[in-house]
Amino acid sequence: MSKMRAMVVPAVNAPFRLEERELPIPGQHEVRIRVQACGVCHSDSITVQGLFPNLTYPRIPGHEVVGIIDALGPDVQGWEPGMRVGVGWHGGACGYCGNCRRNMAFACENVHGATGVTRDGGYATHMLALTSALAHVPDTLDSVESAPLLCAGITTFNALRNSGAKPGDLVAIHGIGGLGHLAIQFAAHQGFRIVAVNRGRDKEALARSLGAHDYIDSAADNPAQALLAMGGAKAIIATVTNPQAMEAIIGGLGPNGVMMVIGAVGNITINSIELLMKSAAVRGWYSGTSADSEDTLLFSELNNITSMNEVFALDDAQAAYDHMMSGKARFRVVLKVD
Ligand SMILES: NC(=O)c1ccc[n+]([C@@H]2O[C@H](COP(=O)([O-])OP(=O)(O)OC[C@H]3O[C@@H](n4cnc5c(N)ncnc54)[C@H](OP(=O)(O)O)[C@@H]3O)[C@@H](O)[C@H]2O)c1
Ligand SMILES: [Zn+2]
Repeated sequence: MSKMRAMVVPAVNAPFRLEERELPIPGQHEVRIRVQACGVCHSDSITVQGLFPNLTYPRIPGHEVVGIIDALGPDVQGWEPGMRVGVGWHGGACGYCGNCRRNMAFACENVHGATGVTRDGGYATHMLALTSALAHVPDTLDSVESAPLLCAGITTFNALRNSGAKPGDLVAIHGIGGLGHLAIQFAAHQGFRIVAVNRGRDKEALARSLGAHDYIDSAADNPAQALLAMGGAKAIIATVTNPQAMEAIIGGLGPNGVMMVIGAVGNITINSIELLMKSAAVRGWYSGTSADSEDTLLFSELNNITSMNEVFALDDAQAAYDHMMSGKARFRVVLKVD
């Protein structure tokens, strides 16, 4: 095959368009991937709605990619055609700027960028990726099932393990969507006392079946007071997509508690007195590196953690995206590409 097909965002807020293009040629330190599956994340709205500054179009979204390497660019070592790999949000590291050397390659001055946002991603039959963005995918994991682990998975797995909470501590998973339903499973296997928080009770039974010990209906009860009544949270993993919902739970932190802000909701207001009286913190959390992706995949394999997915064909990316944005997906939408 010398052509690829992609579902492209032609311009800000324009509908997806199917395009046929020449197969891209991998550059230095790049591989070409034949995409098998790509998850549809709420963060794809950053590309669709143009929520970051200076984005350029057309752009192919998609940063939960699993596929097979089918071509190598110059100076690639250790990666071979036929290997199955995953690519997440993090587009790779240059290896020499200060940010990359401090393991913060997402802030790389040389703009290796964010997959599907500043470089083309996985809503396509083929894509290019830097080798520093690649994660090995264990043989036992199914490509469609595991694609969401490359963003929804790594982000919540990493936020939990970096939150400072220890086994037995009270951890709130706020929002039970694509990220939240995985966060509950990771938290259960990391040994926390888990309380799931969502509006309404629709998702309570599922949250409990995934490992939540308690449930707070944030539409019926004040979630901050409900958490304080349980002793206060050591960590809140905030995956909701609404700023007021996030603000409403901050007061539920216990002494030295940390809210890991994952949802990209813009401005939130924080009461400084509430924080300082508890030495509590509100911390942003960005997904992680390709090494963190490998940790997530291996941890998921070890503990049989899977994403619950609704599967769409690549050509139906518009319907898949709209379904994800409607909040009705149970729980992750994935494009099956080959
Ligand atoms: N920091 C990172 O590295 C990173 C990585 C991936 C994603 N993200 C961000 O994380 C967020 C979650 O992504 P996702 O793919 O999991 O989204 P999702 O599947 O759409 O889930 C959204 C969740 O937010 C809840 N929610 C939406 N509006 C709400 C409101 N007004 N009040 C209370 N709860 C509300 C939903 O509750 P219902 O069930 O009631 O609808 C659902 O639980 C997004 O902002 C995304 O951009 C960040
Ligand atoms: Zn994502």
